[in-house]
Amino acid sequence: MQTLLITGGAGFIGANFVHHMLETYGDRYTLVVYDKLTYAGNLDNLRDVAKAPNYHFVRGDICDADRVTRAIEDYGVDTVINFAAETHVDRSIMDPSAFLRTNVMGTYTLLEAARRHGKLRFHQISTDEVYGHIAGDHKSVEGDPLSPRSPYAASKASADLMVNAYHITHGLPVTISRGANNIGPYQYPEKVVPLFITNALQGRPLPIYGDGRQMRDYQYVRDHCEGIDIVLHDGVIGEAYNIATGTEMENLQMVEILLDELGADRSLMQFVEDRAGHDRRYSLDVSKLAALGWEPRYSCEEAIRATVRWYVDNDWWWRKVRDEAFDSYYERQYGARKVLTEAEG
Ligand code: NAD
Ligand code: DAU
Repeated sequence: MQTLLITGGAGFIGANFVHHMLETYGDRYTLVVYDKLTYAGNLDNLRDVAKAPNYHFVRGDICDADRVTRAIEDYGVDTVINFAAETHVDRSIMDPSAFLRTNVMGTYTLLEAARRHGKLRFHQISTDEVYGHIAGDHKSVEGDPLSPRSPYAASKASADLMVNAYHITHGLPVTISRGANNIGPYQYPEKVVPLFITNALQGRPLPIYGDGRQMRDYQYVRDHCEGIDIVLHDGVIGEAYNIATGTEMENLQMVEILLDELGADRSLMQFVEDRAGHDRRYSLDVSKLAALGWEPRYSCEEAIRATVRWYVDNDWWWRKVRDEAFDSYYERQYGARKVLTEAEG
């Protein structure tokens, strides 16, 4: 592993991964970010590393086979890490077409390019959502059946299956990591934690879906990046690895912590009509990755508090991102959404 093509590296987790790699390894690896710069891609996320001599940026679509080939050949790429995706469940409910294109066809295009260039090392960034809603006390292990329930999750599960198929059929050296809900610096504020922080900072209501008792494992993004790093270096080829804190909490608890860290009032909480097909609970067993020596540094609560502090300290970043396009999305997503009475919530 020498030269890494980091697709989607201008997004939230990809950019944090670039920071992690440069801070951990200095100039040991050449990092080539390949990103289409959709609404979620943002070069401000990479502003701090832009001058590093071993960092390069290529604007391109992962569905564009010629452009992918050119990037691989121009930089002598030997490893592909695929972060690029459409990532927001609510958008996938409104219009899944971009999810099928990027998450399924884009992953296939990268796999095919990796195969044709002498079986490059390939790592796929996947999600706990591929396991679907997890009932009872069960924690998902990597061998559990995939049972995605949203269009986003279905597109990510399809990509996992194709990655596995390229390993079995063509001997491509692949690994997959399945992360829980990431939070931390540079997350586009459509996702719940940065949305609620930035709404609260503007005195706007926090739209809590349904009864707010859905459970998520909110993990700090840098912990996720360290896990990906370990899988890249020490993971067994052909295997998948879960990455999470391993403990989940109800959304209502997340909101309480967030408001407490902000010193904001609970009256900002507003219960609204639920998300269609909303998965009640995700829960990951992380012992397989722990056996490789990984452990998270942040609990969910510490991750939420650290995230709040980052947004408070970096309003230059999120005020630019909450632009007209964001407002128009917000209106489409929340404008006509029913506000629930206490009896309905
Ligand atoms: P993000 O939405 O913040 O960023 C996605 C990036 O991909 C953006 O920079 C965007 O410009 C780029 N992109 C989108 N379509 C592209 C295309 N066709 N070609 C090239 N680039 C394209 O996403 P994120 O939250 O950083 O997620 C990164 C990966 O991690 C995704 O694969 C996602 O499914 C997975 N994941 C996310 C989470 C989470 O909580 N955010 C958790 C687990 C797994
Ligand atoms: O679990 C990993 C996944 O986490 C990633 O694969 C996805 O890319 C990422 O978007 C995230 O999916 P979720 O749907 O869990 O994240 P989101 O931030 O959209 O929602 C988190 C929880 O908060 C979920 O139970 C829905 C709820 N929610 C969300 C929004 C946007 C609200 O109550 N109100 C909201 O306005």
